[in-house]
Amino acid sequence: MNINHIAIIMDGNGRWATAKNKSRTTGHREGVKVLEDITDFCFELGISCLTVYAFSSENTARPKEEIDGLIRLIKEFFSKKLPKFIKHSIRIVVLGDRNYFDKNVQNIINEAESKTAHFEEKTLAIALNYGARNEIIRAVNKAIDVREKVDENSFSKLLDTKDLLEVDIIIRTGGEKRLSNFLLYQSAYTELFFVNDLWPDFNRERLSEIIAEFKGRSRRFGKVENNIK
Ligand code: IPE
Ligand code: IPE
Ligand code: MG
Repeated sequence: MNINHIAIIMDGNGRWATAKNKSRTTGHREGVKVLEDITDFCFELGISCLTVYAFSSENTARPKEEIDGLIRLIKEFFSKKLPKFIKHSIRIVVLGDRNYFDKNVQNIINEAESKTAHFEEKTLAIALNYGARNEIIRAVNKAIDVREKVDENSFSKLLDTKDLLEVDIIIRTGGEKRLSNFLLYQSAYTELFFVNDLWPDFNRERLSEIIAEFKGRSRRFGKVENNIK
């Protein structure tokens, strides 16, 4: 069974850090390292799109110190890694409402997107100040602005994920069994996986296990076993 698109809710950085008597920001920094390794692994496996939930619209209500640390990490990630993304032909897409961030961060994000927009085979989509309800509302308002009724096809083109393939797998680390406002429209037929590992402890081996389990699942899309496709 072919896998085109994996999405990950990278949860558990704070608990990982607290258990080690470190700051939550240290946990997020460790999380970025794991993100880099898992991104490399996905592309090595031939998966063409990886989407990661890095910062939710609700996370903006966290204490200022944590937000400042997260924004610093986001800036660092984009500016330091852009040469690597270009070298490895990785297209960067950012989901969410970027107007929340200051102009400097917005410029860094826009530059990463524009300089990699022509790459077609590999995509890393990063959800920043993303909330699925907000994404859907923005899409509805875009339709209202042009006074056009939508169908499933045209509506999907108004979402932040307009250029991405259908999501095959959503993984949430950190033990919670909820989507926390992530890809609510896109996940209609996505296979869900919840693992207890805190994100900084997640690794290639665990992802391989998930992929093996995915291959054993029966995706019926509402049909019955013998009339699929
Ligand atoms: C996920 O880890 C990363 C972000 C939400 C930015 P958390 O920061 O939510 O970590 P826990 O869930 O508190 O352990
Ligand atoms: C979801 O994790 C958001 C990200 C991983 C970026 P949260 O830690 O914010 O979710 P809740 O609060 O446990 O639902
Ligand atoms: Mg959390």
